[in-house]
Amino acid sequence: MPTQPIEEPSRAKPLRSKRAVVAGRVLVNALRAGEVNGIEALIRAKMKQNHTPFMIIRKSQLIKQYRRFRKGLPRVEPFYAIKANPHPQIIKTLLEQNCGFDVASAGEMRHVLSLGAKPDKIIFANTIKSAEDIIAARRARVRMMTFDNESELYKISEHYPGAHVVLRIKVDNDLSVVKLSMKFGADPEMAVPLIRKAKSLGLKPVGVSFHAGSQSKNIENYLQAIELTANIFAQAEEQGISLNVVDVGGGFPIPHFDGEIGINFERMAQQIHKQLRVFDENTTIMAEPGRFFAGPAGILVTQVVGRAFRNNRNYYYLNDGVYQDFSGIVFDQCKYEFKTLRRGKKFLSALAGPTCDSFDTLALDAEIPELYVNDVVYVKNIGAYSSASAVANFNGFAPAKIIIV
Ligand SMILES: Cc1ncc(COP(=O)(O)O)c(C=O)c1O
Repeated sequence: MPTQPIEEPSRAKPLRSKRAVVAGRVLVNALRAGEVNGIEALIRAKMKQNHTPFMIIRKSQLIKQYRRFRKGLPRVEPFYAIKANPHPQIIKTLLEQNCGFDVASAGEMRHVLSLGAKPDKIIFANTIKSAEDIIAARRARVRMMTFDNESELYKISEHYPGAHVVLRIKVDNDLSVVKLSMKFGADPEMAVPLIRKAKSLGLKPVGVSFHAGSQSKNIENYLQAIELTANIFAQAEEQGISLNVVDVGGGFPIPHFDGEIGINFERMAQQIHKQLRVFDENTTIMAEPGRFFAGPAGILVTQVVGRAFRNNRNYYYLNDGVYQDFSGIVFDQCKYEFKTLRRGKKFLSALAGPTCDSFDTLALDAEIPELYVNDVVYVKNIGAYSSASAVANFNGFAPAKIIIV
């Protein structure tokens, strides 16, 4: 029920109201009506028992994404990058599917081990590790880890002699939203010298990894990286070092908007699968998907706590913001589609978080109906890089409670 009068509604600008646009939207909406109704019924049901903000994590979606991945890339063993969302129930659900895990620290390693992950189904995929964390890996018998520089090799050989090391190479991250090659990866020309160095230090160089950049919409990043990796395998073989692990990293994209174009996992997987034929059947091929598994599982449900008219548009203040579960706007460079349970003509509006910081603004151009205090604003596909990077209690606002269904 409306709890507050409309403030200066006449000054809010209606969006494109042309019939053709509306007709197109009606068609698309009709196709998605089933999904929308299901999600909105779930939100309404959960609102009866819970205060907002809350994040619903759907196990069914996690399993669906896991199966899509396995089907699209049957030779590739996924190691879920838990940094995307380390919630215990997500890890347990993926464990039940026999998934492996990519951990970035000893903290993450302990977390997955405590939930039942086996050490040989874990890769310590941070090319820069503290000595303490390497020792923790040795004690836990997590022996596969990545590196991309010589200094790291000395550290690993000192604290974990015989560790299985995977060289991460630098590859193109063109069109990826988060460009990880800016910070990680050895130049491919340095690959063989580094692999030889690893061997000479008493480590076991087992393979090559790369990361095409997160939310990587450019299939060429993967195809070229696989070709580079195959060349390194051949060069290492010539030097008497046989490699047998290819780690194609993460980066597999998901749509954040309904009908978003340029994202087709199945088509992408088909080409990657084909390109991987260059490796024989004795090669273990693995990947480190994060967003692809956790993203679609999450639905964030917030409510409007206040509204104002400023800068020629309605501003709606939500009870979750960039310091909490919308942290992906900052750290993941993510843009979200804001949806409302309320229907009606849409207006360009601003959405902001609850803190006293003006930086805590979520969108200046959200296309939403006129809203009232207590109205629901929800976002789909927000399970990754959201609650995981939320700040505990900035301005006294806690991140959303997670509800697993
Ligand atoms: C080493 C490593 N592996 C895997 C991932 C997961 O990437 P994504 O969520 O894009 O699949 C990341 C993300 O930062 C990463 O740094």
